[in-house]
Amino acid sequence: IKKITDLKLKGKRVLIRADLNVPISDGKVTSDTRIRASIPTIRYALEQGAACVMVMSHLGRPKEGEYDPQYSLAPVAERMSELMGLPVRLVRDWIDGVQCQVPGELVLLENVRFLKGEKKNDPELGRKMAALCDVFVMDAFGTAHRAQASTHAVAQFAPEVCAGLLLAKELEALSKALENPDRPLLAIVGGSKVSTKLTVLETLAQKVDQLIVGGGIANTFIAAAGHPVGKSLYEEDLIPEAKRLMEQARARGAEIPIPVDVVVAKAFSEDAEAVTKPVEEVAEDEMILDIGPKTADLYADRIMQAGTIVWNGPVGVFEIEQFSHGTRCIAEAIAKSPAFSIAGGGDTLAAIERFGVADGISYMSTGGGAFLEFLEGKKLPAVEILEQRDC
Ligand code: 3PG
Repeated sequence: IKKITDLKLKGKRVLIRADLNVPISDGKVTSDTRIRASIPTIRYALEQGAACVMVMSHLGRPKEGEYDPQYSLAPVAERMSELMGLPVRLVRDWIDGVQCQVPGELVLLENVRFLKGEKKNDPELGRKMAALCDVFVMDAFGTAHRAQASTHAVAQFAPEVCAGLLLAKELEALSKALENPDRPLLAIVGGSKVSTKLTVLETLAQKVDQLIVGGGIANTFIAAAGHPVGKSLYEEDLIPEAKRLMEQARARGAEIPIPVDVVVAKAFSEDAEAVTKPVEEVAEDEMILDIGPKTADLYADRIMQAGTIVWNGPVGVFEIEQFSHGTRCIAEAIAKSPAFSIAGGGDTLAAIERFGVADGISYMSTGGGAFLEFLEGKKLPAVEILEQRDC
């Protein structure tokens, strides 16, 4: 696919689809990671002498077809302006035409999800968006798994289309990790439920050399290995699936290891007493809330030996101190490992931030759902349309 650096932008009206869907509380952006990640493309377009740079994004999931101040991009415009040291003009009614007031102005278009037809990928809405620009730049990796008017239909009709710097970087990092990885390839998939990550687990079980599972997902695998899990969160109906995945991995010389020790408690709370015990000894009234120190050491060894690491999801309840050690140990090992490492997903990035290991991670994805769909081996529709336009 074409990249923004392949096109001439001078004097052109450039429309950038970014993912500025960031957490906001009391009218202030509480994490600006996605705004920061979008800036290089915006700056590039301005520096290349675009006549007008328009940025569009969704924010949250408002009711379609009406303006709702709760979902306004106003706090995003403010933060973006601070970060860029430039004025950012927020335009509320833009779909029927936007005029840049000065050449090279930066304009933020109000939440695309206020427009009827956005979510159902209405071609008419896409056509109107396309009419605003000479070049459409898709840079919203975090929304690339959605076929919506601002990510898909617009790309069908815009005169020229390309990938922005962030989208290109994300695709490059993910392809490097999954398509031609330095081996051993090790994936860590944590989170509460096997059911929400079943396809990811299935795809990875066929690709990786080691698949470390954590959190509630690991509990289902622990049960599948025949150990008691007490009151732990797990999915009984998915035990056969977990068994099948373990066998499948084993058959191709790969492994889904089971923890040898775990941290348990009688309650899921900040003042619960944490006890470490062998995985075979979990009592009926206990729940598994983290991997134990022996397991963490074993996993850390494997992480140090890996060539490539893909990480999505914590291995324990890392928000509570006494259940955070497993995730901390994993995070620190990944940061220390010489492997190419890629991490994605809200919880995972929060853990990386909490343990202060960001510098040691080779690439942190801005995608949540999009990151998972890439790991599932799915084609991202917003990327697919760029590929189609290129032929
Ligand atoms: C995300 O935060 O995962 C993306 O911005 C997509 O948001 P959505 O799930 O509301 O489409």
